[in-house]
Amino acid sequence: MKVLVIGSGGREHALAWKIAQSASVEQVIGAPGNPGIASLDKGLCVPVDGMDFAGIKALIEEKDIGLTVIGPEAPLAEGLADYLSEGGDLVFGPCRQAAQLEGSKAFAKAFMRRHNIPTADYAVFDSADEAERHVRENGAPIVVKADGLAAGKGVTVAMTEEEAVAAIREAMVGGVFGEAGRRVVLEEYMTGEEASILAFCDGETVVPMASSQDHKPALDDDKGPNTGGMGAYSPAPVVDDEIARRVYDEILLPCVRCMAAEGTPYRGVLYAGIMVTATGPRVVEFNVRFGDPETQVVLPRMTSDIVPVLVACARGGLAEVPVEYGGTPCVAVVMASGGYPGAYEKGKEITGIAAAEREPGVKVFHAGTRLDGGALVTAGGRVLNVTATGATLPEAIARAYGAVDQIKFEKAHCRRDIGRKALRRLGSA
Ligand code: AMP
Ligand code: GLY
Repeated sequence: MKVLVIGSGGREHALAWKIAQSASVEQVIGAPGNPGIASLDKGLCVPVDGMDFAGIKALIEEKDIGLTVIGPEAPLAEGLADYLSEGGDLVFGPCRQAAQLEGSKAFAKAFMRRHNIPTADYAVFDSADEAERHVRENGAPIVVKADGLAAGKGVTVAMTEEEAVAAIREAMVGGVFGEAGRRVVLEEYMTGEEASILAFCDGETVVPMASSQDHKPALDDDKGPNTGGMGAYSPAPVVDDEIARRVYDEILLPCVRCMAAEGTPYRGVLYAGIMVTATGPRVVEFNVRFGDPETQVVLPRMTSDIVPVLVACARGGLAEVPVEYGGTPCVAVVMASGGYPGAYEKGKEITGIAAAEREPGVKVFHAGTRLDGGALVTAGGRVLNVTATGATLPEAIARAYGAVDQIKFEKAHCRRDIGRKALRRLGSA
């Protein structure tokens, strides 16, 4: 079978790499993909964008593709899964209606409230004055979120009323997130440790993947502005057996059952961003796709063939397919362009990946690279995901940073504390 992976980041490279390990797969095609995907033995990249629905359809026909896996949220929110499956193609990813769990925070919050899924209390506003009044009445800390998709940048955790009001004005009056921020959701501030639980779903059955934890702030010790994610590790010790059971019973299963009951069965990956609070796990956000960079640490630990799992999610029958993980921890360190998440330069030559990958357990996923002549150069904010497995978490961390230190490009930066929170928790456990 040929498998098409839509997207061009580190998540898609990790997916294509894992899919290519399946004996049932003869070719993995990235649209548009990246040089990492192109360099896989079974890899090929075609310059078609995921938002070009007709172009994707034509590619599926031309290459005789048996399964399409949609990486990013934007084509899902626009209905690419509906468009392809209505045309008879096998697609991994939820329909447009179900993708609103990520595409509209107001939709997700109302859904959770209707079905008693634990999450922060909230209110939705279309008027900046009313939102401001709510802040003045409820005080800070309070969380301000743009309703629509804002590339992970639409959230302000405001520690003062002034900060909250400024964020409301920027989104609703200043229009910094465009239409996505004309409506805002104000949320109760939750405290605790965050973790990501991704789960395979076929509309009925839910199979959680190994737990993981992202590192969103740009700098060590969770300082600096929020990013798309600066690193991750799996498993996340904060998700012990009891928390994992509660996430399944109180969040994932009710979510999938209630989506089905409402006539929008959920098929694909359901990503629950959770906060482990004093009263148990509560939802911070739902995403309707694989996490980035969580995927890069979860898939290297998966020992089962992923292709039958993806097919079962698309077609049904997930309960009958094995989904297993090895015990070895995995860590990914994001190497970013100088300046990211603010303005940064592109086109810097990257060296040392081959040497880094000769180290045991190391795999480098491409997140923002391109080929310029024969040279590999930077082409995005997050450039590489340097990933390592190890017998223990300290070993995985040491290997990942050993690999990072061999890779060079001008003004590269990374966090130096990926995994430290887990070490602290393991040490005190
Ligand atoms: P989101 O895009 O909704 O995941 O929010 C981005 C980040 O903001 C999360 O990873 C949390 O660190 C933080 N955050 C979001 N909602 C809340 C909340 N209700 N309470 C505390 N922190 C939050
Ligand atoms: N790692 C956060 C996300 O994928 O949204």
